Amino acid sequence: MDIVTTSGDYLTYDTPLLVYSMWQDEATSDHITTLFEAEDWSGEFKTTLLIYPRGTLTTRRLLLIGLGQRAELTPDRLCEVAATAAQKAQELKVAKYSFYVKPDSTLSTVVYAQAIAEGSILGLYSFLAHKTDLTTLNQHAIRTLTILASQTDEQLERGVRIGESIARGVTLARDLVNGPGNHITPAKLGETAHELEQAFNLDVTVMGLDELRAQGFGGILAVGQGSSQPPRFIVMEHGATLKDAPTICLVGKGITFDTGGISIKPAENMDAMKSDMGGAAAVFGTMRAISTLKLPLHVVGLVSAAENMPSSTAYKPGDIITTLSGKTVEVLNTDAEGRIVLADALFYAQRYNPDAIIDLATLTGAVVVALGHHAMGMMSNSDDLVQRLTQAGDLTGERVWRMPLWDEYKKLMDSDVADVKNTGGRPGGALSAAGFLSHFVGDYPWTHLDIAGVAMTDQPVKAYQQKGATGAGVRLLVEALHTWTTT
Ligand code: BES
Ligand code: MN
Ligand code: ZN
Repeated sequence: MDIVTTSGDYLTYDTPLLVYSMWQDEATSDHITTLFEAEDWSGEFKTTLLIYPRGTLTTRRLLLIGLGQRAELTPDRLCEVAATAAQKAQELKVAKYSFYVKPDSTLSTVVYAQAIAEGSILGLYSFLAHKTDLTTLNQHAIRTLTILASQTDEQLERGVRIGESIARGVTLARDLVNGPGNHITPAKLGETAHELEQAFNLDVTVMGLDELRAQGFGGILAVGQGSSQPPRFIVMEHGATLKDAPTICLVGKGITFDTGGISIKPAENMDAMKSDMGGAAAVFGTMRAISTLKLPLHVVGLVSAAENMPSSTAYKPGDIITTLSGKTVEVLNTDAEGRIVLADALFYAQRYNPDAIIDLATLTGAVVVALGHHAMGMMSNSDDLVQRLTQAGDLTGERVWRMPLWDEYKKLMDSDVADVKNTGGRPGGALSAAGFLSHFVGDYPWTHLDIAGVAMTDQPVKAYQQKGATGAGVRLLVEALHTWTTT
């Protein structure tokens, strides 16, 4: 779907479908309010009313959509409104439709246009890569969304491009997470990085077995050794030539399928473990978005990609491995593999002397028990980073919730026979996992985001989400990085 902006009068604009948003209980003398009975529809948030104006307006169909209370409008809520409108447009099978931008918004033009573009694209997302008959779907696909304003300006256009860039980043992340383990392998993630290099001007390095062995990526190699799909370590760099720009490392867990390995998981719901590269997907999506937005920052995306399988070559409970940092890890449970592949990536990040390291990982079932599906667990050694991410979370609706990173949790990971062990018992499982990771970040400002509860959903709560992958992390990170360029 293309998104264009144009100026015009909504009363005389010729379109198959015009979307017109209204505040709750809005009292205007507007022509549109004469087309329906106020007691039938009040403009409550996300509710719609379809009207056939039959000549009193030029548009063939008029879709009223509620913005809710004026004081409650946020970019995230406007995203939902846009997504709802887009889905109605799709039901109506129109090839194109228009969204009218009212001049009395409480949001700035850029933010407003961004939310409309972002919400519309995300609301229409579906994962069709493995459907073989797309004829009817293609026949009724929406080709164009026109954002109509009484006066267009550069701000409106800029907002649309930002929203589009972010949404394409999110849909990339969703495609990768929805993609099954037999298609999305570590090698495929490497290829995806090279595709981004071609299209978006990133500097990409993909390391395979030989390189990982030569450099001593003992964590990634151990986790990947049970699979016939060899592991990869992926580096994607944006803005490397920018002098004086802050350097931020984004690190993603890329377990393309997590069987648990020798400490094998139960069969029930194991299919969901195709999403165990959700952290990596968020890094890919973010890199795509920030490169199209040309953010004046040095951002390094690092992804540890491996498949965790049980086999005669697999790593075993009791094994002791030497990670890239030189620190040794006693493996007590091969299902606690994410922290092991992250150990190498987090240590690798230190070579950039970064201003911040942020890792994203579907790391523990414990965080799902603690927070459910509505927030990421956040552990950090930096109050500044926590503040940035919390703010970005509130704005985008991708909420984060800080949990403690105390020395006691780090201590839980002491091993009798190696430097650390990879499990610290069930109590506080998400916290001891973060304690483990903290052994590998040095003194750098660092935040760990455990996204196990939010990478996938069975019951979408936002209009711009569907069942399956959410693309969680992309909107959050892009927002945080975007404000970094100004503060
Ligand atoms: N990938 C899983 C965590 C997970 C669970 C993600 C549920 C999404 C939904 C991770 O590798 C794992 O298996 N963690 C173990 C750690 C334990 C063995 C210490 C867990 O949480 O049970
Ligand atoms: Mn696991
Ligand atoms: Zn895992």
